[in-house]
Amino acid sequence: MKFLSMSVLLLVVFGCAFGLTDMSFRLVSTTDPLVLDERLMSQSTPGEELFRRHMTIDELYSHTTASEACITKVRVWLLQNGASDIRLGALGDNMFFAVDDAQIDSVFPRLVSSETVRIGKKSVGFPSSLEDCVRFAFVHPKSRMLRREKKPMEDSTDGSGFPGMNQNPDTIRARYSVPSEPIATGTSFSQGVAEFEGEQFYQSDVDTFDSNFSIPNNTIKVSGPNSGGYFGEGIMDLQYIQSIANGATTWWIAGNKFDFTLWTERVLAIKPLPLVLSISWGSGESGFDNSSMATDTEDFRKLGLLGATVLAASGDQGTGSTGFFTCGTFDPNWPASSPFITAVGATYSNATDANETAWNGSGGGFSSYFEAPIYQRKAIAKYTSTATMPPAQYFTAGGRGTPDVSALGTNFEVFCQGWGTETGTSAATPTFAAVISRIVAKRLSEGKPSLGFINPSLYHLGAVGFDVTVGNNQNSACPAGFSAAPGWDAVSGLGTPDYAFLDSHL
Ligand SMILES: *[C@@H]1O[C@H](CO)[C@@H](O)[C@H](O)[C@H]1NC(C)=O
Ligand SMILES: *[C@@H]1O[C@H](CO)[C@@H](O)[C@H](O)[C@H]1NC(C)=O
Ligand SMILES: *[C@@H]1O[C@H](CO)[C@@H](O)[C@H](O)[C@H]1NC(C)=O
Ligand SMILES: *[C@@H]1O[C@H](CO)[C@@H](O)[C@H](O)[C@H]1NC(C)=O
Ligand SMILES: *[C@@H]1O[C@H](CO)[C@@H](O)[C@H](O)[C@H]1NC(C)=O
Ligand SMILES: *[C@@H]1O[C@H](CO)[C@@H](O)[C@H](O)[C@H]1NC(C)=O
Repeated sequence: MKFLSMSVLLLVVFGCAFGLTDMSFRLVSTTDPLVLDERLMSQSTPGEELFRRHMTIDELYSHTTASEACITKVRVWLLQNGASDIRLGALGDNMFFAVDDAQIDSVFPRLVSSETVRIGKKSVGFPSSLEDCVRFAFVHPKSRMLRREKKPMEDSTDGSGFPGMNQNPDTIRARYSVPSEPIATGTSFSQGVAEFEGEQFYQSDVDTFDSNFSIPNNTIKVSGPNSGGYFGEGIMDLQYIQSIANGATTWWIAGNKFDFTLWTERVLAIKPLPLVLSISWGSGESGFDNSSMATDTEDFRKLGLLGATVLAASGDQGTGSTGFFTCGTFDPNWPASSPFITAVGATYSNATDANETAWNGSGGGFSSYFEAPIYQRKAIAKYTSTATMPPAQYFTAGGRGTPDVSALGTNFEVFCQGWGTETGTSAATPTFAAVISRIVAKRLSEGKPSLGFINPSLYHLGAVGFDVTVGNNQNSACPAGFSAAPGWDAVSGLGTPDYAFLDSHL
């Protein structure tokens, strides 16, 4: 088959910033966030008393919301300083407000200090009366333009494009032993894909794709914009998640800005909550500041506490690299590097029954910001003590390791106003997510709870199906990358999914 091919190489940060109207403050919650960390671990760790006893939204609210007194004080103070449209987020610890565009600098520096915040153009001193109320003076002004690069490219079979055979729902099902019948229906299960910055899809493209692969009609529901005129990422996410987990309701959950606080609010507004969420967006950690990664991580934690599984693409730049043409240090991908995310890398294969090889673009390494969570420390220790590591100056030993898992990710057949192929961890992520969706939907139909945050279970199992032991993710700017190895490694994680294995072991 001859395909007009393009690749969606995700998300390159060029540091563009522009004025925004929506901002948020993080309020002091009634429960210490560290208590919620512990609670999520006990909900997610096999053998714990609270294992998979997910919180209801009301229960979570009782922990996350701020006191009435604080909510009132902060609201009054914001109003006095030019903010409008003030509202409390669904879980009571975010206060959203708007500032007139005209008041916003074109380059809007994030200003987070204990003394000053910025509201619109104004730098505003923090009254001491609010110190106990605003835990984190988080304003979300600096948006990152995450640009997707689309490259026309040759047919993958002539060796000049991305490695590996073409993939489609049939080849993926065959490889991962995924059933073809629709997921268990009659449950409240739904799944979602995250989209940002003008991404758009046409329902007719999904319909064409589905009819080609004999996928019975699926339901796609839209929350957020679907009109920005950028095509490619979202259509692939939808085509793969809803064809492999066919029969599920799939939500397109979109935001204009790459802001997970706003995005999480949108997810929480969907009733019942989508229980598997696939994020094929991201960029090197160095492009984000600590405060936004810390805040977004709290939002991922909330979704885990409510029983949702959140997966994110580990990036398409291999180890990543700070610096444009030289290797400063490796630069792992955010939000995949969040400890409450299941990070998905990419592999390729030359034949359905051949072993998979880690793709050299598969994002992986060790976070410069997040420490390795307990659930993966043993796996990391084994890897770093047995595999050949790149020179130590390039990565942060002791950082959170990514990816957690991987899936096929090269040469995915996509119908986007014409047939083409797309490559990247953004293909692997909805694929892995869909396998999880099938398991969650089945569990719900049997009256069991959803899986929720799965990383502790995955590392406890130590395997997900197929171990990927060959390949390396050296970035072309860097002298070395991470090698695949038996067990967990920093290019393919624990490996690629076998539905039957995960269904019976998770
Ligand atoms: C899709 O279906 C059309 C019409 O049956 C066929 O010509 C085409 O080869 C199919 N494409 C794929 C990728 O299956
Ligand atoms: C899918 O939907 C289309 C348009 O509504 C309809 O023509 C078609 O028969 C449906 N197919 C199936 C398998 O339900
Ligand atoms: C896959 O095929 C390509 C092209 O023939 C070859 O270079 C590569 O070594 C093969 N990879 C594996 C893992 O067999
Ligand atoms: C494929 O992987 C399996 C399991 O890791 C291994 O036993 C086998 O030798 C591999 N086959 C090839 C051809 O590398
Ligand atoms: C962000 O976190 C890293 C790692 O903890 C630290 O080295 C760095 O100084 C922090 N940066 C800021 C601006 O706080
Ligand atoms: C992967 O290898 C290809 C050449 O085989 C190279 O063009 C590409 O830049 C590499 N990927 C990365 C992330 O460096």
